Amino acid sequence: MAHELRSPLTSVKGFTSTMLRRWERLTDAQKRLMLETVEADADRVTRLIAELLDISRMDAGRLEVKRQVVDLPAMVRGQVDRMVATGQPAERFRVALASPLPEVWADPDRLEQVLSNLVGNAVRHGAGTIDLVVAADPDGDGVAVVVDDEGEGIPAEHIGVVFTKFWRGSRRGGTGLGLYVVRGLVEAHGGRITVGASPAGGARFRFTLPAAVPDFVQLPPTALVDRRRGADRRATSRG
Ligand SMILES: Nc1ncnc2c1ncn2[C@@H]1O[C@H](COP(=O)(O)OP(=O)(O)O)[C@@H](O)[C@H]1O
Ligand SMILES: [Mg+2]
Repeated sequence: MAHELRSPLTSVKGFTSTMLRRWERLTDAQKRLMLETVEADADRVTRLIAELLDISRMDAGRLEVKRQVVDLPAMVRGQVDRMVATGQPAERFRVALASPLPEVWADPDRLEQVLSNLVGNAVRHGAGTIDLVVAADPDGDGVAVVVDDEGEGIPAEHIGVVFTKFWRGSRRGGTGLGLYVVRGLVEAHGGRITVGASPAGGARFRFTLPAAVPDFVQLPPTALVDRRRGADRRATSRG
């Protein structure tokens, strides 16, 4: 992990120093290349730190989920649009959205994180067409989301470890934290995530989100009273 943090920072430091010292002698093309590398490495460190912060919250059981109504189909389409905007061919994605869908109450930022990790993995570790399916969960009252790809998939002996912290099967630039975070986020919503094989033999990731209502609807009136009492106690004990 120390290496994961240090190596992009070493490159940021190295390229900025070089640019400052040799500014007049560098061509515009060289400067541009260095700046692009610096930007990419800074982004990596930022992502890594965000993941580590999420993980420390998760491991401490302090991950906050702020539920609101989420337009899951729009979110899935948004993920695909983002991938296409960053250079993926649009034909690589196939989206199937069942309608009507149960209403989804979730933390939109967290759900985006789950989707972008799974779609990003399918793009980076998988191959071929990526199928995204959103439908009502036949085993529950919520929704199920499936991300399939046509790559080599996850070998049977690794199925049990893909969600482990730091585990990665390939050396394609990742940190091995993505799926650990994804599982933590799905479970923080009361959902479940599983991995298996897609019909094409690639990877299939499937997660569910149970139907849920926001915290303020769930709180029975007595809970509100208890909370206020707790606040009173704290206020008096302080004096
Ligand atoms: N769609 C996929 N196809 C094949 N392998 C995958 C797929 N998604 C994840 N993996 C494997 O699971 C590992 C862990 O994934 P993840 O936790 O997201 O870490 P990272 O993407 O940083 O390597 C990856 O390194 C890869 O080997
Ligand atoms: Mg990943």
